[in-house]
Amino acid sequence: MTAVLTRRSEQVLTGPAPGDEEFTYLLQGASSAPDHGRLRPWRWVLLRGEDSDLLGDCLAEESGADAAQAEQLRAKLRRAPLVAALVFSPRGERIPEWEQIAAASCMSYSLMLLLHARGYGSIWRTGRLVRSEAAAELLGLGAGEKLLGSLDIGTALPSTARNRRPPEEVSTRVTRFSDLRTPRVAAAAGNRSAA
Ligand SMILES: Cc1cc2nc3c(=O)[nH]c(=O)nc-3n(C[C@H](O)[C@H](O)[C@H](O)COP(=O)(O)O)c2cc1C
Repeated sequence: MTAVLTRRSEQVLTGPAPGDEEFTYLLQGASSAPDHGRLRPWRWVLLRGEDSDLLGDCLAEESGADAAQAEQLRAKLRRAPLVAALVFSPRGERIPEWEQIAAASCMSYSLMLLLHARGYGSIWRTGRLVRSEAAAELLGLGAGEKLLGSLDIGTALPSTARNRRPPEEVSTRVTRFSDLRTPRVAAAAGNRSAA
């Protein structure tokens, strides 16, 4: 509960970030997330430092950005020492695509929690990147693959580290089946009380 409640999406991240080996180690843990059919329908592409500039240039070129806008895009992608692009790689049609996306999302959140438990901050970003054909090409996406966004990963500055949030009130999101007023449930309740 502590890890879950203290994780926050961190907008500003600095070094250190996990190296490739540590990232892979944490991913091994995250890959145990629930996954119908055990398809692991995902992969990651890691960008560090100047790699992100290339991605920024690519997005800028595609959108016809002027020099100032291009610089802004590069700066956005330099917000973290590690940008991990999450590639969705659907595996066949036996398991519906939405379930495979759900499995990839479970893995990604598990990874965010593991990063957090290790002292790293992260934020899942989507935006322009997931719509960009140029980025898909640059990142080597194959036919049928798509970007589900990227994780900015690094270390949160102590001054920007965000507060633990209070648990949300969720009791209105839970309904006991026996309280449902759908016709069959209500009839069954009526029968029980008459018996
Ligand atoms: C699929 C997904 C896409 C997201 N895309 C963005 C994004 O493009 N930009 C952004 O600032 N945050 C993005 N977020 C992060 C959410 O804004 C963030 O989780 C939310 O504000 C709650 O903050 P918290 O994680 O600190 O509780 C995304 C989160 C998810 C799960």
